[in-house]
Amino acid sequence: MRHLMSPLDFTPEELDKLFDLANDIENNPAKYAHACDGKILATCFYEPSTRTRLSFESAMIRLGGRVIGFSDAASSSASKGESVSDTIRIISCYADICAMRHPKEGAPMVAGEKSGIPVINAGDGGHQHPTQTLTDLLTIRSLKGSLGGFTIGLCGDLKFGRTAHSLINALVRYDNIRFIFISPEELRCPDYIIEMLKKKGISYSEVIRLEDVMPELDLLYMTRVQKERFFNEEDYIRLKDFYILDTAKMGLAKEDMLVLHPLPRVNEISVEVDADPRAAYFRQAQYGVYVRMALILTLLELA
Ligand code: CP
Repeated sequence: MRHLMSPLDFTPEELDKLFDLANDIENNPAKYAHACDGKILATCFYEPSTRTRLSFESAMIRLGGRVIGFSDAASSSASKGESVSDTIRIISCYADICAMRHPKEGAPMVAGEKSGIPVINAGDGGHQHPTQTLTDLLTIRSLKGSLGGFTIGLCGDLKFGRTAHSLINALVRYDNIRFIFISPEELRCPDYIIEMLKKKGISYSEVIRLEDVMPELDLLYMTRVQKERFFNEEDYIRLKDFYILDTAKMGLAKEDMLVLHPLPRVNEISVEVDADPRAAYFRQAQYGVYVRMALILTLLELA
């Protein structure tokens, strides 16, 4: 039995196979419409979500399976003090596979140790968000044609942003990637990531102004300043609108640059940018369904 806790749980070769499967699902949905007949997915979300939970549910339903779960810790027995370990033992009696989001780093891993079914980390605190990373990689591979040889700017909250951390960790395995980290001083990429890049000899730079680097980018990965990760509301208010991507800034970018965002957005991408053909974040959300369908099939050994 196999879980997914980090995007690094799959080798680049296994990821290629997963993305091939996702693209096949995209092009031939009818072929997979009954692939999970009789199977049940449990979505155990201790933290809010729109995309991750609903795309998992959509993925399982599109594969012919069914879905159970909770979308809020308060409506589960966690509110009575039940541990994640006990909860997953119970869920293992009811479902064939579980996607779990939790505000505590490592909680899905603890669940995986006690689980009788595959557990997918659907986001744990500020740590990892592996299925968002699979979504991001599939989007880049599908729209850019490959997963190497580009300069990617990651902009916004690089301190707490688990989607950024997961994506950086995954991209370092591909050739000729150059990172440009764009953040205010207070939200810089954590030292452990910078140390990892130095150790691997991977090119990176850190800047504060987005405008200064726009012309260099092949991909711009925008992130939200996350209110829920701040201890101090004053700091959040001071930093929340530090970056706003608008049409003027898009005018500085390459004609084939793509803008990605894990979403939800607040103000960091002006809605006027949505009409720009380089805005790929809604297409990215669609790829999230295909890759989660491919992941469910793979972990259930039905692919
Ligand atoms: N991208 C993402 O994780 O969105 P949700 O928080 O809505 O699931």
